[in-house]
Amino acid sequence: MGKVVILGVFVADTAYRADRMPKMGETIMGSSFALGPGGKGSNQAVACARMGAETHMISKLGLDDFAKLALDTWAEAGVIPHAQQVSESYTGAAYIFIEESSGDNAIIITPGAAALISVADIEAEAELIASADVFVTQLEQPMAAAVRGLELARAAGVTTILNPAPAAELPDGMLALCDFVTPNETECESMTGVAVHTEADAAKACDALRALGVRTPIITMGEQGAYLDGHGLVPAVNAGPVVETTGAGDAFNGGFAAAISEGLSPLEAARYGCATAGLSVTKAGTAPAMPSREVVDALLK
Ligand code: RIB
Ligand code: NA
Repeated sequence: MGKVVILGVFVADTAYRADRMPKMGETIMGSSFALGPGGKGSNQAVACARMGAETHMISKLGLDDFAKLALDTWAEAGVIPHAQQVSESYTGAAYIFIEESSGDNAIIITPGAAALISVADIEAEAELIASADVFVTQLEQPMAAAVRGLELARAAGVTTILNPAPAAELPDGMLALCDFVTPNETECESMTGVAVHTEADAAKACDALRALGVRTPIITMGEQGAYLDGHGLVPAVNAGPVVETTGAGDAFNGGFAAAISEGLSPLEAARYGCATAGLSVTKAGTAPAMPSREVVDALLK
C-alpha cells in the first residue's frame, strides 16, 4: 500500500437537475436536487483511499454543518484529515447545474475556508508531505499553497501530480515541479493554446507541456480515455450507462495516484485511472460515486 498526500478543497456539492439553465431574471422548475460531498481534492482523496492507498488530506474547513459532512465523508472512506477548522469563514460549497438530457454540468465553486490555506499551513505539513510516495494537488485552493506543496514534495523526492483544474494562470516554474500533470481538453488548451480533440492534437499538446517543464503530461479526454505522453491513448473503460460525469476527472486522478504510489508504471496507473473514472460516471454524485479497489480490479481483469 502506497502513501498519498493530497492538498485540496472540500465543498458541499448542491446539484440541481433541470431541462436547461434559467436565463438571468428567470425562475424555472427543476426536476431534482441532491446534496453531497465534493470538491476536487476531496473527491480525489476519496477515490484514492477506496483504491487502497493510505490517503492524507490537507485542507481547511469552517465550523458549520458542511464541515461535518467533510469529516464524515473522509472517515467513511478512510481518508486521514489534516484540516484545521476556522471561524473566519464557511466550509466550501458548489452549485452544480446538470442538464437533464445530456448529463453535462456547469459549476460555481466557492472554497470558503479553503481559500484561506496559506504557505505557512503547508510548511506546517512539511514532514507529512516528505513522508509520502505521491503528492497531489489541484487549483481550487490558493496557488501559492499549491506551489509550496509541490516544492516541498519535489525537494523530498516525492512523486508530484498536478491536476490543473479549474483552469488558471500558472506561475512561472510551477510545471517544472510536476512529474505528472493531468489537464482535461479545456484545461490543456488554456495551458498550451492547442485545441485537443484527437489523439494527434493531444500529442502536440504534450510536446508543449513538456516544453513548459512537465515530465509526463497526461490529458484526460472524457469518453475517449486519457492520452499518456510517450504511449498514446489509453482507452476509456465502459462500465455501464452514464448517470453523471461530474467528478470523473477526480476519479481518474485518485485512481492514478493510488496506483503510482504502489509503484505501478504510468501506463498501468492510467488504466487504473480510466477504470476508476468509468465506474464513477455510472453513479450519481462525485465522492459517493468513487468505486472500491475490488470493483476496479474486477473491471480490469
Ligand atoms: O471535479 C468535480 C468537482 O468540482 C465537484 O465536486 C465540484 O465540487 C467542483 O469542485
Ligand atoms: Na458520478
